[in-house]
Amino acid sequence: MPAVPYNPTRARDARPVSSGSSLFAAALKATATMGLLSMLPLALAATTGTNPTLKSCLNNVFASNKGAVSYPTDLFYQLTAVKPYNTDIKVTPAAVTRPTTTDEVSRVVQCAAAAGLKVQPRSGGHSYGNYCIGGEDGAVVVDLVNFQKFSMDTNTWFATFGSGTLLGDLTDRLFKNGGRAIAHGTCPQVGSGGHLTIGGLGPLSRQYGAALDHVEEVEVVLANGTITRASNTQNTDLFFAMKGAAASFGIITEFVVHTEPAPADTTVFAYHIQTGKKSSFANTFAAWQDIISDPNLDRKFSTEVVITELGMIISGTYFGTKEEYKALNFEQRLAQNATVSVTTLDNWLGTVTNWAENEALKLIGGISGPFYSKSLNFKKDTLIPFNGIQNLFNYLETANKGTPAWFVIFDLEGGKINDVPTDQTAYAHRDTLFYVQTYAVGILKLSDTTKNFINGINKVIQDAMPNVNFGAYAGYVDPQLPNAQQAYWQSNLPRLEQVKRKYDPTDVFHNPQSVRPASS
Ligand SMILES: Cc1cc2nc3c(=O)[nH]c(=O)nc-3n(C[C@H](O)[C@H](O)[C@H](O)COP(=O)(O)OP(=O)(O)OC[C@H]3O[C@@H](n4cnc5c(N)ncnc54)[C@H](O)[C@@H]3O)c2cc1C
Ligand SMILES: *[C@@H]1O[C@H](CO)[C@@H](O)[C@H](O)[C@H]1NC(C)=O
Ligand SMILES: *[C@@H]1O[C@H](CO)[C@@H](O)[C@H](O)[C@H]1NC(C)=O
Repeated sequence: MPAVPYNPTRARDARPVSSGSSLFAAALKATATMGLLSMLPLALAATTGTNPTLKSCLNNVFASNKGAVSYPTDLFYQLTAVKPYNTDIKVTPAAVTRPTTTDEVSRVVQCAAAAGLKVQPRSGGHSYGNYCIGGEDGAVVVDLVNFQKFSMDTNTWFATFGSGTLLGDLTDRLFKNGGRAIAHGTCPQVGSGGHLTIGGLGPLSRQYGAALDHVEEVEVVLANGTITRASNTQNTDLFFAMKGAAASFGIITEFVVHTEPAPADTTVFAYHIQTGKKSSFANTFAAWQDIISDPNLDRKFSTEVVITELGMIISGTYFGTKEEYKALNFEQRLAQNATVSVTTLDNWLGTVTNWAENEALKLIGGISGPFYSKSLNFKKDTLIPFNGIQNLFNYLETANKGTPAWFVIFDLEGGKINDVPTDQTAYAHRDTLFYVQTYAVGILKLSDTTKNFINGINKVIQDAMPNVNFGAYAGYVDPQLPNAQQAYWQSNLPRLEQVKRKYDPTDVFHNPQSVRPASS
């Protein structure tokens, strides 16, 4: 097969945090950096000893590459090896490993299982709940930073790449090897390992599905160390589980995905409403919900609403020309005075960069800090009633927040994501039209006031919709969500528990909200 090899450069730690323009952005960034600094005492504190069985086993695996394993007794373990994304959740893993081959991954998993410890892999390290470092103390971390291979088959346009590849690098490599692309989220620092295994929702998803819908085949290390592959023809039950709940089932070392031609002309638009009380935004939001719930809405149209302390921004990408975008009459239908910007971009990498510079992402994408987030899903028959919208915006106006750094983000999904039958992949929200994601970053630490504010947003919406059984997106981990597995995987949960029983009966791949094995 005519494969184009790619020589990877590692970008996770080198990638600079994009520079924000506003003072507000600078203040928030400083806040998050202070969150990281607050870990310093923890980094220096004496830690509990390392499990001797584990240590001798791992030291044997990495005998010729001692730098590839770190233990809690190492100086600066938290800052240099553990590197938690959410500094509000303190986690001390039993070891952090950085294998370079699938065989080493297999041996690490066997070491952990023999020592009776849990395992979680890390790709981009952007789990809201720090699940890539176990989510709770004592796990063995398999950091996939060295899994960077890339090749493109120019006959099938299937790409094969290592699961440590970050989305920003993936976009580049796909584009530079034939002008190809897949649908995925907008944060370049997120890893493919955690994204293509849990969902992966982004502006192209209405046309091409979730990122995981591109996956044709994976190489995976199982709980007993076996290295195998899963696809629609091989280990099909495992393949089902890996597409939406992989962290509970195994470690993907390699993905094979089908790709699409990268979009050419795109039109990015933003509609800024920054004057007036938040309670005055309700009509405009209702108009947005009305527009996006049209079952015939163009799949080339993607949009989100971001509400912050400063106001409301309705933005998005239209995968077509400015004229085609204008013909949708989107702004006129929103009918509120606002500052409007519409820009046409004629290259794919520029479009992706533009997303990464989006106001909210600029603040939270590349940096860690103490934060809390929740999500809720809405379907075409569970739209938010107008009184619920009014209550929400009144609440956002008046509630005590405890931080200036909060976001409420409504993201349109639907389209091709909803064409896939619910039981085809573990990702279960195939009838979700849009999500709300609420998010707050604390100052140094997260206060109860801020957590209560975030919980209050969901409560205001749910109170207006008392008969709706809401789900949540597993990609926006909410460690305090009760019955999380049910909310994340819904009708697919019983089958996932059976697959878990088959492939990982002793629950080696575990985090606080992972799928547990069925008892019979
Ligand atoms: C700033 C930001 C923006 C985001 N934007 C979007 C968005 O636009 N759309 C969207 O859908 N989501 C978005 N997310 C959510 C994101 O998709 C998830 O947090 C995702 O799980 C992160 O993947 P990761 O590899 O960076 O994380 P990690 O923390 O490394 O992993 C997350 C989970 O996946 C598991 N995992 C990692 N690698 C593997 C592997 N190779 N095999 C099996 N399991 C693995 C980990 O054990 C962990 O449980 C965003 C998150 C952040 C922080
Ligand atoms: C928009 O602004 C104009 C002029 O300032 C004003 O007359 C009009 O009522 C405003 N419309 C809305 C919907 O607020
Ligand atoms: C490992 O687990 C898989 C899946 O359950 C099983 O097929 C395989 O036989 C096991 N291998 C060993 C060596 O036990």
